[in-house]
Amino acid sequence: MIRKYTFGNPFPTEAVVKDIPASQGTLPYFTREDGSLVLTLEEGAPVYGLGEQVRGINKRGWTYTSNCSDDPHHLETTHSLYGAHNFLMIGGKQPFGIFIDYPGYLTFDIGYTRKDTLRITPADWDMDVYLIEAEDGRFPSIVRAFRQMIGRSYIPPKWAFGYGQSRWGYQNEADVREVAARYREAGIPLDAIYLDIDYMERYEDFTVSDEKFPDLTGLAADMKKEGIHLVPIIDAGVKIEEGYSVYEEGIEKGYFCKEEDGAPFVGAVWPGRAHFPDMLNPAARRWFGLKYKGLLDMGIDGFWNDMNEPAIFYSEKRLNKVFDEVASMKGQNLDLDKNNHLLGLVNTLANNPEDYRSFYHEPGNGLPRVRHDKVHNLYGYNMTRAAGEAFEELEPDKRILMFSRSSYIGMHRYGGIWQGDNMSWWSHLLMNVKMMPSLSMCGFLYTGADLAGFGGDTTEDLAMRWLQFGIFTPLMRNHSAMGTREQEAYRFSNAEALGRIIKLRYCLLPYLYSEYMKAALHDDMLFAPLAFAYPEDPQAAQVEDQLLLGESLMLAPVCQQNATGRYVYLPEDMLLVTTSGPEDFRCQKMTAGHHYVPVAEEELIFFVRRGHLLPLSKTAENVASLDSSALDVIAFPDGGCSYTLYDDDGVSKDYDDPSRLSVIDVSSDGAVRYEGTTERKIHTCFICS
Ligand code: NOJ
Repeated sequence: MIRKYTFGNPFPTEAVVKDIPASQGTLPYFTREDGSLVLTLEEGAPVYGLGEQVRGINKRGWTYTSNCSDDPHHLETTHSLYGAHNFLMIGGKQPFGIFIDYPGYLTFDIGYTRKDTLRITPADWDMDVYLIEAEDGRFPSIVRAFRQMIGRSYIPPKWAFGYGQSRWGYQNEADVREVAARYREAGIPLDAIYLDIDYMERYEDFTVSDEKFPDLTGLAADMKKEGIHLVPIIDAGVKIEEGYSVYEEGIEKGYFCKEEDGAPFVGAVWPGRAHFPDMLNPAARRWFGLKYKGLLDMGIDGFWNDMNEPAIFYSEKRLNKVFDEVASMKGQNLDLDKNNHLLGLVNTLANNPEDYRSFYHEPGNGLPRVRHDKVHNLYGYNMTRAAGEAFEELEPDKRILMFSRSSYIGMHRYGGIWQGDNMSWWSHLLMNVKMMPSLSMCGFLYTGADLAGFGGDTTEDLAMRWLQFGIFTPLMRNHSAMGTREQEAYRFSNAEALGRIIKLRYCLLPYLYSEYMKAALHDDMLFAPLAFAYPEDPQAAQVEDQLLLGESLMLAPVCQQNATGRYVYLPEDMLLVTTSGPEDFRCQKMTAGHHYVPVAEEELIFFVRRGHLLPLSKTAENVASLDSSALDVIAFPDGGCSYTLYDDDGVSKDYDDPSRLSVIDVSSDGAVRYEGTTERKIHTCFICS
C-alpha cells in the first residue's frame, strides 16, 4: 500500500509515474519537530536505500545529504555524491519505505546525532512524501511497490553489457585505433571505446575536432566492423563563443538558465565561460536533446552525460570578487586567519552554494520560475531526460546507450549512471560493491564504477580484483583520469590473466542479461543484500561484502590487497564455483555456515544458490558474436530446478513478447529439459548432487 502526503507546494519532479491521490490524514510513524520529520528507530533495525551514497548497505550511523555534488572525494566523511535518491526502507517490527520527492537540499540523519533517531530535514517544506508498505512486510516487496510507482528502469542495448575501455586522455583517432588494435592483438574482448572531452572542438558540446578526429563517421564505421561502439561524452555547460551554433541558438531562444535580472548565468567548466541549458524547461530540453542527432547521424549509438550536477568551476561574478579581494591582500602580513581566508577564497570558487542560489529555471506548463537551489537535484536527471526523450523521437525502435553522472529518482527511466570519480583504492572497490544493491533499490539497474579506479595510480592486483567484480556489474567500464597510470588490460604483466577474466564476462552474459531484463521488466532488484533473501537469518543481515545477483548467484569478491582467500558466510548450502576464466569452472558443494575459501589472485569465486542454476555460454570477441544457441549449465538442483531465460535481439524494444522467454529445467540426476521458441542446445557441465 502506498500513501502520499503533500506538504506546501511541491515542485513537480515527475519522479513518480503512478497516479496516487494525496492522503488527507497525517503522515504515520513520524512526528514533525523543528523543521524535521522524526522517527524513533528500533534497536538493531537496519535502514536501507539512498542509492548512490557512501558507507554501508545498512545506512544507520551517518548523516547523508541529497545535494548532487561534483566532488571526487568519496570518503567516509562525505555526505553527498552525484545523485539524490531519497528512498529509504526502515526495518523493525513493521518495515516500510519512504520516498521524499523533494528536489532541494535534504538531510537524512540516520542514527548519527542520536543513535535511535532518524531525522529527515528538507531545506523547506514543499514536498511529496510517499509511505510504502507491503503486505508481507518484506523489503523486496516494498522495493517492488516503490519501483512500480516510479516506472520501468532504463534498458540499454545488449552490446552495452560488453566490456568497455575509457580514459580521459585518448587524444585523437590514432589513440582510439591503437586501443582497439592492442585489445585485438591481446585477444581480449571489447565492445566499446569511450571518447572523453578531447574529441570535441574546444570542449564544445556536439562538435567534433576536425584536427583530432577528421572523420568520426569513418572511424565509428571501422570500429563497428570490429564490434566496437564509440561512446562520446556530453557535458552540461555550453561554451560561450560567437559563431558556435549551440551557444548562438540557446541565446536567441532564451534557453539558458538566467540570473534574477534575466541575463544568462555565466559559470565556467572545461571550455571556460559557459551557459547552462535550462533542462527543466520542456522547450529547452527538447532543443538540447535533439542536438544528439548530429552524433547519432555519424553512427554513434551511445553517450555519457557528465558534469551535470551541474558542476561549476567558478561563476564569473564570484571570480571577479575573488580577484579583487586577493589583490587587496597583496602586501599585507597574512597571519593564520588571513592566510586561511586567502586559501578559502580560491577553494570556495567551485560549486559554491551561493552561485546555485543566483540563477533560475523557467519550467513552463504554467509554473513560476524557480531558483536553481530549490530544484538543484533535478538538473542531471533532466539533462539525461532531454537525451532520452530525443532518442524516443529520433530512434523510436532502437535502444541507445545513455548513462549520466548526476541523477535523481525518475532519471532511472531514461538512463543509467556510473559512480563518478572514484580512486584506485581498495576501499573504493568495496564501496562499489556496497553501492550496487542500494542503487537497485532505487531503480538504477544499469550502473557500475570506473573499474581499476579513476583517480590515482592503480596496481595490477587492484585492477585484477576490481575487474573480477566488474564482470558482474551491468556497466563494465575501465576508466581513468589523465595523468594517472595507464590501465588498459593489455598494459599489465598479468594481461593474459586479466583477459581471461574479461572473457568470463561474456560467458556470464546470457545470465546477466536475462536477470537484468527480468529485474527491469518486473521492477525487481538485480543486486540484493543477503538479508533480503534470508530474512530469518540474523547473520545474513550482517554481511555487506557479499551480494546476491539475480535469482541464482551469490557473489563474494576479494576486496583486500594481497589476500589469497576470504571468509564467506553461507546462509544455506551453496555450490562454490572457482574460476580463472572460460572453461575453468571448479565446483564444490559447501554447507551452510562460515568458511575460509582460497581465491588465488588470478581467480574469482561465486556461488550458485541451492535450487538454482547458472546458464553459461562460450566466450566471444564481443556481444554481437556471442552464441547463445548452445549453453552450458552449472546446477544445484536440490531435487530439481528451473530457470527462465530472457533473451532478445538486444536492440529492439518489444520486451514483452513471450518468445523472449525460454525455460531450462534440470532434474536431480542432471537431466536437462529445455522449452522455448529459440532453438538451443543445453548441456550440464556441472551438477551438484
Ligand atoms: C569528470 C568525469 O567524472 C570523468 O569521468 C571524466 O573523465 C572527466 N570529467 C573529464 O571529462
